[in-house]
Amino acid sequence: MSAIESVLVENRVFPPSDAATRGARISGMAAYEALCKEAEKDFEGFWARLARENLDWTKPFTKTLNESSAPFYKWYEDGELNASANCLDKHIGTPVENKTAIVFEADDGSVSTVTYKDLLSRVARFANALKAQGIRKGDRVIVYMPMTIDGVVAMQACARIGATHSVVFGGFSAKALNERIIDAGAVSVITANFQMRGGKELPLKAIVDEAIGMGGCDTLRTVLVYMRTPSACNMVAGRDKTFEEVLKGQPDQCEPVSVNAEHPLFILYTSGSTGKPKGVQHSTGGYLLWASLTMQWTFDIRPEDVFWCTADIGWVTGHTYVAYGPLAVGATQVIFEGIPTYPNAGRFWQMIEKHKVTVFYTAPTAIRSLIKAAETDEKVHPKNWNLSSLRILGSVGEPINPEAWMWYHRNVGGERCPIVDTFWQTETGGHMITPLPGATPLVPGSCTLPLPGIIAAIVDESGKDLPNGSGGMLVVKRPWPSMIRTIWGDPERFKKSYFPPEMGGRIYLAGDGAVRDEQRGYFRITGRIDDVLNVSGHRLGTMEIESALVSKTDLVAEAAVVGRPDELTGEAICAFVVLKRPRPKGEEARQIASDLRNWVAKEIGPIAKPKDIRFGDNLPKTRSGKIMRRLLRSIAKGEAITQDTSTLENPAILEQLAEKN
Ligand code: WT7
Repeated sequence: MSAIESVLVENRVFPPSDAATRGARISGMAAYEALCKEAEKDFEGFWARLARENLDWTKPFTKTLNESSAPFYKWYEDGELNASANCLDKHIGTPVENKTAIVFEADDGSVSTVTYKDLLSRVARFANALKAQGIRKGDRVIVYMPMTIDGVVAMQACARIGATHSVVFGGFSAKALNERIIDAGAVSVITANFQMRGGKELPLKAIVDEAIGMGGCDTLRTVLVYMRTPSACNMVAGRDKTFEEVLKGQPDQCEPVSVNAEHPLFILYTSGSTGKPKGVQHSTGGYLLWASLTMQWTFDIRPEDVFWCTADIGWVTGHTYVAYGPLAVGATQVIFEGIPTYPNAGRFWQMIEKHKVTVFYTAPTAIRSLIKAAETDEKVHPKNWNLSSLRILGSVGEPINPEAWMWYHRNVGGERCPIVDTFWQTETGGHMITPLPGATPLVPGSCTLPLPGIIAAIVDESGKDLPNGSGGMLVVKRPWPSMIRTIWGDPERFKKSYFPPEMGGRIYLAGDGAVRDEQRGYFRITGRIDDVLNVSGHRLGTMEIESALVSKTDLVAEAAVVGRPDELTGEAICAFVVLKRPRPKGEEARQIASDLRNWVAKEIGPIAKPKDIRFGDNLPKTRSGKIMRRLLRSIAKGEAITQDTSTLENPAILEQLAEKN
């Protein structure tokens, strides 16, 4: 039975326990419904109240929502604040100031901690260093860093001086980094000499050098290098400086720069349905409100909690639930440098026990790989550790199959911890559809109901509401504070991608398919409906991978990429390739496929490597030359072709492509 089918017959329901409901921020469904009603009755009043209660404004806002240039919505537009002040300075003079802000566990297991007061000093010093390098409010700064306290310090320091950061995941290639530096017009790259992952020292600075060497980075003036390991790295005189050099003599106080609520806090690149990644631009006020609010609503965060979100700061989850959210609410959080399988696949469970983690937030792909590991090796099964500190579990990034949900619930949560299956996207800034741990009855595989004030629906192509039980497109009908503001430098693409004119141009199109169940109206996400793939929770565009393949111009004539369901990674990348030479077979085909995989890793990053590459003399096309992707999807799955192939120009090609190398 496939994951989707098993959800369709899912009838297990897990109501919140008394322990989960007691003292919860939103306790019981009536409390949830009351908030929904409040938002319905006075939409702007609701969002104004929450923004006043949850954020410190240096200049209070008087306007809540401006829809006059929709879909370019503005929230709290005449208000001013600083994000870093709202994460750090806010706690000074309260009991939180001497509380541990971050427990950092390095790849090798060594631990260091920093209090809120010390974190503020570090951020202030780094902010002064950035200013001394000539970096000013509105400048864009690339952060290409490993998971460290310093990565968070770099982001917070940018926010403190009003510089817009754009974090690039450390697994992206030089080419991907080069494109992002250019698109953002970045003045500086903050990086490290190396990163440590799974006992290996992997270069970062060398990739930065390669990226800059590719040309076009005309706006770039400085590269700041954190020496993560004692190993030397190449330094370009006049351009590159170590953290030590730039921090020398900098005072540990730095006045936070007040910025407008709409000021871009960050740009984060993500894949879309064309070859070029989109620079998703987020605001300061609305975004930070959401980071703070969802920490309280979804994670029900309390003063004594130890929160651990396993996401890298290179993804949006690592922005909202590592760099900003936990700090905004004064929580203690764990940050982990390494990987879940080193030194063995018990690392997560061991760390939960060691740091007494109470709220744990990770991705289904990690859970599935740890299930597999525990099934083959008893010694890494979670039962070997004391996980009784856990109170709430979370899931994010892709649909979680009910089997994995049940395992997580039993073996990690001890059948005691609610699982919040949080649906959201880079564009939404934070959680959108998710259970509330002290209120929502849980159904495995369902992200349940939208947060208060989020008007989500399922519609057909024309934007018409569909009844519960029928699948359609997931949309959000009203704006929300942390929504994407625009695509950096491409407002037209923003409108076209997210607010299709066929639906009236005011409804946010998520790009996912979904269905609501008939009994409860619960949402279940069925996956992307555009040309975006989700591989191990990483988002990749099929066109992006196709462009990478055909950019090997001496070899590749044409390529088409589709996704195929995969037990471990959710989806796997399958590429169909036509070479500029006769179709290879056997050993030659395997060799070329391996070369092409490495090529894609160099062009985009190892996460984009196709799992399966098939060669053909051509691709299945209609007489008008359109590639028939639905056929390719069937071939990738290994299904018999039942679709109508009468419009196909070259039916013989299907057999070729079905052949594995
Ligand atoms: C896409 C967004 C959300 C931060 C990490 C990924 C899928 C995300 C869920 C979930 C089913 C999910 C969707 C979405 N997705 N969370 N709980 N259940 N699907 O952010 O890289 O922007 O990807 O991830 O397909 O559109 P992203």
